This record gives sequence, structure tokens and C-alpha cells, in this order.
Amino acid sequence: MAKCTISQRARDISPFHVMDILGQAKRLEAQGKDIIHMEVGEPDFDTPQPITDAGIKALKEGKTHYTPALGLPELRELIANWYHTQYQVDISPNRIVVTPGASGALLLVMGALLERDKKVLLADPGYPCNRNFARFVEAKAESIAVDSTSNFQLTAQHINDHWDDDTAVALVASPSNPTGTILSRQELTDLSIAVKAKKGHLIVDEIYHGLTYDDIDTPTALSIDQDSFVINSFSKFFGMTGWRLGWLVVPEEYVPVMDRLAQNLFLAAPTMSQYAALAAFKTQTLDILEQRRKIFEQRRNSLLPALQSLGLNVTAPPQGAFYIYTDCSHFLNKKQPDSMALSKHWLQQAGVAVTPGNDFGSHLAEQTLRFAYTTNEQRLIEAVERIKQI
Ligand SMILES: Cc1ncc(COP(=O)(O)O)c(C=O)c1O
Repeated sequence: MAKCTISQRARDISPFHVMDILGQAKRLEAQGKDIIHMEVGEPDFDTPQPITDAGIKALKEGKTHYTPALGLPELRELIANWYHTQYQVDISPNRIVVTPGASGALLLVMGALLERDKKVLLADPGYPCNRNFARFVEAKAESIAVDSTSNFQLTAQHINDHWDDDTAVALVASPSNPTGTILSRQELTDLSIAVKAKKGHLIVDEIYHGLTYDDIDTPTALSIDQDSFVINSFSKFFGMTGWRLGWLVVPEEYVPVMDRLAQNLFLAAPTMSQYAALAAFKTQTLDILEQRRKIFEQRRNSLLPALQSLGLNVTAPPQGAFYIYTDCSHFLNKKQPDSMALSKHWLQQAGVAVTPGNDFGSHLAEQTLRFAYTTNEQRLIEAVERIKQI
């Protein structure tokens, strides 16, 4: 048998710790145990019917061939129009690159902007794949510890303190995963000014846009800085995780390189998904999505105080996405000394699955847990009751 040789690059890509929890949850379910899943980072709702219907129609009509690498022109047009209606920002459709999920967009943007050994600044806690994408393109992720004093976001001060000659990029997400916190217009402006002063690039991941609560202002970075690189996706707000479709907005002069990279890395985003997404911006679909947004908001409103009453401290208000990031120090002891052990204990004893903090970085990781409210309200409250009883 040939020797199995795996590149150092591939060996350095870390797995999700929550897979341990998921594996254990699956085993318990196979034994007949009822598990409440609060570890899942995707909406529990199926894709809205008008989108699915459009996808089926496309398949029936034989729309099964490649599209241009940058995406279907009519979809790029609709996305540009979305920026106009949603944010009153004018973007040329030419600047929009349709990708296989936000994941495809992250790969393109990091591949295009990061030289070998150059650095990208990231918030810790943050979306775990970002540092792996950086590694994959032979660049380096510099994780900056953030906490409630900056709403778990990078600030202009962080940029100034951490930027050095090897730094090329700062990447933020608003709303953030795992905290659901949002960058205000002023904070985004300050970040943009700080990054520009360093002659670097700002990437803003806006994948949770649309899922925001209390009428909070959630500006797109494009309304502040047309030179920023903005990532978005049909996965979360539009409920299309499995269709693998997202997009990236880049400055005009970066369109050719994105085209070239997209052609080589994945040729194009899935064709049927692009046709399906043409129905995503229809009034009928947007009405469904607004109803779902309200349901998420209601879930957050009932889960947040319930978790706090258990003794889980929430130090920054979750303003968007579908996550609550909590400090679980109160529950730690000799038997469950960290959040990983605690989440395994809760799964075993209460049948409640949550994500331990070490999936999002190392800062505060052992004393934090992320709860996803991607399950109906009744089950969320039942989960809290079960934890209370052990
Ligand atoms: C912050 C963030 N960015 C990007 C992604 C990737 O999403 P997708 O590739 O499904 O669009 C996720 C998925 O959970 C995420 O939380």
C-alpha cells in the first residue's frame, strides 16, 4: 500500500471540537435518547418554497451547465439591487462575485490578498475557519483577544496596537459568530480609517446580515468604505445552507483576479442554486424571511433571560445571528473543569448539545459556551429546564 503522505498545510487545519459533541449526541440518539440540539449553526427552517420551486424549475429546464465564473449576470444584478434597496448603496453588478457559500468567498479573498507569511488580524473568539483559510494560503492568522469591553469586536485601537510590517489584512464579522454582536457605523468607520492608514485591506463578513434584532442599525461596510471586501451568503438569512451559495463584493480593480481564481478553484458556483436564488429577493420570499427573523428574535428574547437565570453570564448583548455566547464559570468544578467537559456532561446528563468555546479560539475558551437558538422556543426552554435539574 502506498505511504499516506499528508502535507503540513493539511495537517495544520484543525477540526471542529463540536464534532466530538455531535458524535456523542448521535450515539445517544441511536440509543433512543432525546437530544435538544443547540450546537447547530444553521437555521432549522427549510429553504423558502419560492426559492426551492425556482431551483426545481431550473433543473427541469436543464439549467445544469456551468455559469460564468463570476456568476449569473441576472443574479449579480439582483444582488446589486439588494444593496440599493436595503442599504441605499450603489454597487456596480460587475463588482459582485457569486461564490460557493461565504466559504468560497473567504477562500478567494484570502487567496487574492495574502502573500505567504503575511498576516491577517482576527478577533478571538471568532469564526474558526478563518484561521484555517489563512493557513491554507500559507499566510498567518493573528488572533486578537477581544471581550465585552469592545463588544467582542476588533477596534481601531486593536489595529493600531497589532499591525506590523507583515500585516496585510484585518477581518471582522458583523454580526459576529459566536457572539452575535454588531459593529456600529462609527466603529466600522474607525476600523476602515485605521486599516487604510496602514495601507491594508479590510474584509467584512456580513453573512448574518438580515438576522438582526431590536431595529438595530446594521450598516454594510460598503456604505462606509467602497474599498472594503464584503462577504455575504445565501446560507443564513435566506435559509439556503445546503445550496452552497454566497457572494463577495470587491473593488473594481480586483474583479479580474477574482474571475481568474474562481475559474481555477471552482469554475463557478452551483448553477441550480444560482437560478434558485433569483427568487430570493421576491416580495413573497422576503415576507417569509421576515416572519422567520421575528421568530428568531422571539427565541432570543426568551432564551437570553432563561440562560441568565441559570447563572450563565452574558457579557455582551447578542444583537444578531442566532447565537448566545455565555460565560459558564459558575458551573465549572473539579469534575467539569472546562467548557468542553461541561458540554459533554450536559449532553450525557440532560441531553442538551451546545458548542464549547474552544471552537472559536483560545481566549476565554475554557469558560465559554455558545448556544444556537436554531430550535423551536418550547425546546429551548425545555433545554434550560433540563440543565437546571442536573
Ligand atoms: C461567520 C461565518 N462566516 C462564514 C461562514 C460560512 O458560511 P457558508 O459557506 O455556508 O456561506 C459561516 C458559517 O457558519 C459563518 O458563521
